[in-house]
Amino acid sequence: MGRKVTKALFPVAGLGTRFLPATKSIPKEIMTLVDRPLIQYAIDEARAAGIKEFIFVTSRGKGALEDYFDHAPELENSLRKRGKDELLETLKNTNMDSGAIAYIRQHKALGLGHAVWCARRLISPNEPFAVILPDDVIAAEKPCLQQMVEAYDELGGSMVAAMEVPPELASAYGVLDVKEDMGSIVAVNGMVEKPKDGTAPSNLAVIGRYILSPKVLNNLNKIKSGAGGEIQLTDAIAAEIEEGRNVYGYRFRGQRFDCGSKAGFLQATVAFGLAREELQKEFSEYLRHMVSLQKAAQ
Ligand code: G1P
Repeated sequence: MGRKVTKALFPVAGLGTRFLPATKSIPKEIMTLVDRPLIQYAIDEARAAGIKEFIFVTSRGKGALEDYFDHAPELENSLRKRGKDELLETLKNTNMDSGAIAYIRQHKALGLGHAVWCARRLISPNEPFAVILPDDVIAAEKPCLQQMVEAYDELGGSMVAAMEVPPELASAYGVLDVKEDMGSIVAVNGMVEKPKDGTAPSNLAVIGRYILSPKVLNNLNKIKSGAGGEIQLTDAIAAEIEEGRNVYGYRFRGQRFDCGSKAGFLQATVAFGLAREELQKEFSEYLRHMVSLQKAAQ
């Protein structure tokens, strides 16, 4: 069995232009599903998977993210004085132990592979690490990364979360070339980032959860820009296969929301809103009402 995965990297340097003007002054990762920012969902999932150290690859204008994970003594004192224990407990999840969180800047927007490469000095040569893209929010009974860590503990290699997508949407993703389909685990022959329409090797798309061998960082040293002129993480993982190391796709159990798109964000808001006991009744009644209004208008 290989080394435990205890470090996770969160690429959060993107500008979030799809959500302008909201993202003019707040990082998109602070945008909120019900009452938790996207980044909190990612952190909670990482913690459930046993992650102890968190690396954020940030950029200019992302200061609010650093503050979010800091202690807020005035706020905490005021809640304490007013006996708001439940809220204090909620705030605890936003705190990090000293030294458990590191921020590194990606100075140029050169792609996801480049963002991961920027953190190369924070990962030791024999240390596997996870990557979580906070835009991909996954609702699951057992959090997605935890499912993957369990599979990884048995298999080793590198592993990417995978999900079937309609063929016409494959060009928006990294896509797996399947060597052997074993059900929840898929052995991979190759990977293509954003394949042109009609050329995708399968309809099994990569979703933003990865457990990577540190060798992927060496590959990133050599990778030239790929799809969209960007340095692609997918290409560096594919290079693992060429060098004879194992890469697996993991079909997770759960529902993924693309919170990098407006429609996906709204869908996630509805799903997570309905999942909250205290909102369920009022919110579902409202949704039913809206649907009947829509039907009547048609
Ligand atoms: C990134 C990855 C891609 C993956 C996708 C999942 O693309 O490069 O391989 O399929 O995340 O959300 P992006 O959505 O950042 O263009």
